[in-house]
Parts: sequence; C-alpha cells; structure tokens
Amino acid sequence: MKLTDEELGMRDGAEGDAVAAAMDLLIRYGAALGAERLVDTRNVAGTMTQPSPAKAKLVEEGGWARAYAVINLDCDKDIEIPRMKVPTCQLQHGFGKDAAGLTAYPDSSIALQSDAESYFSERGVNILATCTPYQVGNLPVRGEHCAWMESSAVVYCNSVLGARTNCEGAASTGAAGLTGKIPYWGNHLPENRFATDLIRADVEIDTFQEWGMLGYFVGEQVQEARPAVTGLLRQPDLSDLKHFGAATATSGGVELYHMPGITPEAPTLEAAFGGSTVPKARTYGARERRWVYETLNGQGQSTDVDFVLLGCPHASLDQVARIAELLDGRRLHSGTELWVMTPGALRTMADRNGYTRIITAAGGHVLTDSCPAMSKAAPPGTRVFATDSAKQAHYLPAILGIEAWFGTLDECIDAAVTGRWRGDLRP
Ligand code: F3S
Repeated sequence: MKLTDEELGMRDGAEGDAVAAAMDLLIRYGAALGAERLVDTRNVAGTMTQPSPAKAKLVEEGGWARAYAVINLDCDKDIEIPRMKVPTCQLQHGFGKDAAGLTAYPDSSIALQSDAESYFSERGVNILATCTPYQVGNLPVRGEHCAWMESSAVVYCNSVLGARTNCEGAASTGAAGLTGKIPYWGNHLPENRFATDLIRADVEIDTFQEWGMLGYFVGEQVQEARPAVTGLLRQPDLSDLKHFGAATATSGGVELYHMPGITPEAPTLEAAFGGSTVPKARTYGARERRWVYETLNGQGQSTDVDFVLLGCPHASLDQVARIAELLDGRRLHSGTELWVMTPGALRTMADRNGYTRIITAAGGHVLTDSCPAMSKAAPPGTRVFATDSAKQAHYLPAILGIEAWFGTLDECIDAAVTGRWRGDLRP
C-alpha cells in the first residue's frame, strides 16, 4: 500500500505506541483487502464497551487498555490508550442499568459496561449506545468517508445519507478512531457504488411493515450486490428506510442500495447504474410478498404471546410517540411483557414528552442501549414473541429458541394487550 509521510510516521511511533499498533493493523488489513491506500475519516462508529467474558478477563489482567489493545487493535503489548484522534462513537452494546431485574442478563455485565463507558468517554468516545447513530446526532454528509460497524447503520449511511463506509469490525474501527484512517476500498470507491441489480415492486409499498417485507425480499434476492429498487413505492420516511435497509442486510448482506429520486446518488434509474445497461427487473408481487410474510411468520405456532418487542432498529421518537398513543389508557395482558428499544438520547425526549409515562403506566418498558438479539436476553420464561421488525423476527428465534410472530405495530400492540396473536394475513 502507498502510505503518506504522516501515515509512515504514525506506523513508526511518532504518535505513540497505540497509534503505531493501530496503523500496523490498518496496513495489514488494507493489504489483505487489496487496498492501494488509506483514506482520511472523521467519523468512526464502533464498539469498545460491549461486555463479554473474554473482555472481562482481559480487564482483570490489565485494565481497559489491555482489552482495547487485544480486541480493538490486535496487539499483545502493554500500551496506553490515548484520546481518539477523530470523532468516534460507541454503537449499541449490552443492556444497561434500565434493564436490570427485567431479564436474566448478568449484573456483572452491566457493571463492566458502565466502567467501560467511563474509561472510553474520557478518551473521546461518544457513548451514543445505539444501532442508529444517525437518529441521535451522528449524521455524516454525502460523500463523507466513514468507518462504521452495524449492518443496519452501514446500509443507511451509504444509501440514505450518501456517505461512504464498508461494514467494518471492532478492530478496524478501533484503529480508525486512533488514526483517522481506514483502507480505501469497497464502498469508498466511486466505481463500486453503482447499482448491479434491479427489483421492481408491483405491490404497493405504503406502510412500515411493507417496507420491511420488501427489504427482506430484496436482500434474499441480491445477497451482497447493490440493488436499485423501483415500483409502487410510497414516499418513505426515516423509519421506513431504517426498517427496509435493516431487512436487506438481514436476509442478505446489502450495504448499499439505490432508490431513484430518494437516495442521494440516484436522481434517476440511469444514474443509479452509472450509464451501464439497466438489467431486466426482478419483480416483487403478491406471490413474493406472501413468501416473505410466511417466512417471517414461519416460526410461530402458539398464538399465546408472552413478549412483544418493538424498536429494531432502535425506535425513533415518532415511533415511540405512536406506541404511546396506541397504549394510552390501556393495560398490557397480565402474562405479556412489552419492551420498546430506543436510543438513550431519544428516551430522554420520550420522558420529557410523557410517552414513557404512558407506556410504563400500561405495563411496558422503554429500554435503551441494546436489544434481545444483541444481549441474548428476553423476559424470563418467554416462549412466544411478536414484533414489527423483520430483522428481529429473523434472528431472535434462532438466538433464544423461541417462536416468533411478525406483523404491524397495531397487531403487536393488540398482542401486548390481549396476550394473543391475531395477526391479519393481508393477501
Ligand atoms: Fe439494533 Fe438490535 Fe435490531 S442492535 S438493529 S435493535 S438487532
């Protein structure tokens, strides 16, 4: 790889041992990927604070510096960790104090994470603690080079914001935060950002649920390719695109899609393909929609619902407000739990607007930082859960060995209040 004088200096220790280890990691990583050079980034979203048994052991041996060196820098030396060189944030991690006692999630993990937050925030890591950093102030601009983890955030960053990131890992983001560099390959290169496949919706995509289902189909069809999506698409909002992108990255590995007239790099369908021939469209019609619906509901048998999970990816303030509106004056079924996952910053606004009070009065919980899939924890005794998230319906049955129902927000609230799944099958 070609390195600048500044990068060579970092590699050779001009900015200290940790930066040297970070640069060494990026050079090895970039060379393995075939990158010709590094690119500057001033926007890193990674994970340092997520607790794990391995991390707990490393912290016991040598403190957080040791854990960061091994896990985030692939370095076995004893080094001091300086302040991050560029703006860096913590994505979702484990459950925080607000989940204590609600699930079998260990108190020791909550305490370890809290300790990590103090250590890393002192080093310039903004503890956003969400899979949706773009909802709470980390909003990169078009063309900006980023180093982000979390598949649902990566696809939003590339496709909705028009910024540029690959799906990074704990080590590459750990090194990027200390250096302000990331290998220049994949989605950073303009020529790698054009669409490769075309999907056309022949059924109306007009609700949050329909956007998630279309996303699930698109991901299944194109896997890791770059789809352009056209057809009967109602103007989406942030939540629709958040759900759509997360679903494409669940059934497949989509990191970048184009929706002509909506996504920044695709003012037209022709622009999405960069002047290349537009391929024949694969269609998403009633039959394909039915397949998605049945797949996402293929792991539900008992209609007795004991857990309802909303907010995957983490709910926007508007979503929390809508949940509160639906629950106002109602009570959850005695055997059913409801968790609403949202970023901590939005939880503060939900508190201020009274939404949390309404949801709590109904018997639900507004939780932050994590989710059942990430922390592998649900209310004790959960056997059947319901969700409006295609991503959570896909993953949670395999992670926790429970049954799943997927439907609209109204159907999920109905399940929370009645304890029964009465999801409608719209043809
Ligand atoms: Fe976020 Fe968990 Fe869903 S981390 S995207 S709420 S699986």
